[in-house]
Amino acid sequence: MTVTIEGIDLLDLDRFARGEHHEMFRRLRADDPVYWHPDPDGGGFWNLTRHADVVMANRGYQHFSSARAGTMLWDYRSEGDFSQSLMLNQDPPNHTRYRFLVNRGFTPRSIAALEAHLQLRARLIVDAVIERGSCDLVNDLTAELPLQAIAEMIGVPQADRSQLFDWTNRMIGADDPEFAADNPDEVMAASVELFAYVDGLAAQRAVEPQDDILTNLVTAEVEGDKLSQLEVDAFMLLLSVAGNETTRNTTVHGIHALLSNPDQLALLKSDFEGYLPTAMEEMLRWASPVLYFRRTAMHDTEIGGKAIKEGDRVLLWYISANRDEAEFDDPYTFDITRHPNRHVAFGGGGPHFCLGANLARLEMRLIFTEILTRLDDLQLAGDPVPLRSNFVGGVKHLPVTWTPGKRVYPEGTTIEDLERA
Ligand code: HEM
Repeated sequence: MTVTIEGIDLLDLDRFARGEHHEMFRRLRADDPVYWHPDPDGGGFWNLTRHADVVMANRGYQHFSSARAGTMLWDYRSEGDFSQSLMLNQDPPNHTRYRFLVNRGFTPRSIAALEAHLQLRARLIVDAVIERGSCDLVNDLTAELPLQAIAEMIGVPQADRSQLFDWTNRMIGADDPEFAADNPDEVMAASVELFAYVDGLAAQRAVEPQDDILTNLVTAEVEGDKLSQLEVDAFMLLLSVAGNETTRNTTVHGIHALLSNPDQLALLKSDFEGYLPTAMEEMLRWASPVLYFRRTAMHDTEIGGKAIKEGDRVLLWYISANRDEAEFDDPYTFDITRHPNRHVAFGGGGPHFCLGANLARLEMRLIFTEILTRLDDLQLAGDPVPLRSNFVGGVKHLPVTWTPGKRVYPEGTTIEDLERA
C-alpha cells in the first residue's frame, strides 16, 4: 500500500486498527518528518516521527510541557479535569515530588525482590490452561500476570482484579465498540467507578495500614500537605492503567511476532536464556504499545526547519521512532539479536521515563519463559483482533493452540498454598 502525504490521516482509528499507520509514518519520516496535521474543525497539531526528534522533545521538558495541557491529543475537557492531577501530566519540579512518593516500589531492588513470588504466579497462570491445548492468548495468558502483580502492589485484593481489568479496558478502549458499549463518555464513567472503589479501600487503609502503595499514598505528604482524595484516586488510576495495558500488549505482539517468524522462534529456543534479553528489547521496539504522548510548546521554537508556536500541540510518536530507518537497520525486520537497540518504547529518557520499566521487564521474562518453554508446539489459530485506538497499540484477542501438557501443581493449588509450603 502506497500512502501519499495527502492521504495521511492520524485521526482515523480504523486505519490504526488495520495496521496502516506504519505506512503513514514511513511516508512522513521520508517526506515530512515534522508534520502539521489539520484538525477537522480547524487548527491542527505537530507530529514528530523521527527517533532523534522524539528523544529531543521527550527530554526537553522545559520547552515541551506535559503540564500545560496534558499528554493526550485533545485538551482537558474542563477546568478541574481529574487527569490534571496525574503525575504523567506534571512537569518538574512538581512532577519530581509526586514521582518520589511511588518510586521506591519500582526500583530494580524492590522489583528483584518480587521475582520468586511472580514466578510462582506465572507458573500457576500457565497451569490453568496447559491441559486444554487452546486459549485466548490475551485474556487467559498475557493479561493475568501484569494484572495480578499491579493489583497486589497497589493494594487491590485479587478477588477484585477482574473489575480492575474491566475498568482499565474501558478507559483505554473507549473508542472500541467491544469495550465502550453505548456510553459516549466511557472514560469518565469507568474512572468514576474506579474512584468510588478506591475511596472505600483508602478509608480502610487509613485505619488499617498495609504494606502497599495505597497505604503510602494515603499517609504521604507533599510539602507538608496530605494528598487529596482525588490525587490518591488519580494515582491509583494511573498505576492501574499503566501497569496493565502495556505489558500485556507487548507480550502479545512479541509472541505473535515470534510465531510469524519461525526462524526467530527457533533461534530463541536454541539458546533461550542467552537470546531472551535482546529478544525482549526487540519485542518492546516492535510492539511499542504506547503509540504517542503529547506535549505543548512553551515558547516559539523550531524543529526540523518547522516553526513551532508557543501553545502548539506536539505529538511524540514512539511507534514511528521505533521504526526509524535513521536509527535502526532494517527496522521492519523482527530481529531478536538486534544490538544496540535504543528503542523508545518506555519513553526517550526524559523525566517521565516509564516508572514500571523494571517491573515490565521482569513480568515479560517470567511469562515468556513459562509460555515458550512449557506450551509445546505453540501455534496461531487465528488473526490478532486489534484495539481500535491511535493511543494504545492493543490486541484484544489472539487464539492459539498447542499440544496439551501437564500441570506443575495439582488443580486448585493457590499462591498462598505454594508460599506456605
Ligand atoms: C511493556 C510495558 C510498558 C511500556 C511499553 C510502557 C511505556 C511507557 C511510556 C512510553 C511512558 C511515558 C514515557 C515518557 O513520556 O517519557 C510510561 C510512563 C509510565 N509508566 Fe509505563 N510502560 C510499561 C509498563 C508499565 C508498568 C508495568 C507500570 C507499572 C505501574 C508502568 C507505569 C508507568 C507510569 C506510572 C508512568 C508515568 C511516569 C511519570 O509520569 O513519571 N508502566 N510508560
